[in-house]
Amino acid sequence: MAIERFTNVLPYRKQLARKQYVSDALPPVLISEDDIRRRVSELAEQISNDYADHGDIVLIGVLKGAFVFLADLSRRLTIPRTIEFIAVSSYGAGSESGAVRLVMDVRGNIEGQHVLVVEDIVDTGHTLSYLIGILKSHGPASIRTCTLLHKAERAEVDVDIDYVGFRIGDEWVVGYGLDYAEQNRTLPYIGIVHPGD
Ligand code: PRP
Repeated sequence: MAIERFTNVLPYRKQLARKQYVSDALPPVLISEDDIRRRVSELAEQISNDYADHGDIVLIGVLKGAFVFLADLSRRLTIPRTIEFIAVSSYGAGSESGAVRLVMDVRGNIEGQHVLVVEDIVDTGHTLSYLIGILKSHGPASIRTCTLLHKAERAEVDVDIDYVGFRIGDEWVVGYGLDYAEQNRTLPYIGIVHPGD
């Protein structure tokens, strides 16, 4: 299926793919549904233990990609929690610019709250770094970060990540919330896409 029709609404980094085509075949598995389920449970246990004495925490999911991970992680926590969302978009002269802008801020008041930012993937680190700056300006009691996937070899900025599900190589991955030109977000596993296949 041609994806040119997505071009006008895509963040800049995704426009890299605008001349490519999305395959109808299911992407090969990088991380299985079972492995994700197990790891999300482990993370939830670790986070629940770490925050056991903190009272309520606020989980902030980064749209769109984090929606599936946030849903599963939040339901496995054993500590009191509330949910917020924040949305950002990249812009500028391509994915290498690192420029990020806020599309939607959190709705609730997070001043004095313990915040856990939940990402689907940290790649260059620009998004998470930018978000931490925005969220700090709201005056939370603390900010920690959690990502399902981390492409450490792609890091361009130093950003503290407190909880990592899986470290992966420099692959284009889809599923479990992640997309390729808005495709495959609802795959139950993490798959690999080779642009141009
Ligand atoms: C992805 C992901 C992170 C960001 C990480 O979002 O959800 O927010 O990229 O990249 P970085 O570390 O290089 O900044 P994306 O722009 O794909 O938008 P989406 O979540 O709406 O799919």
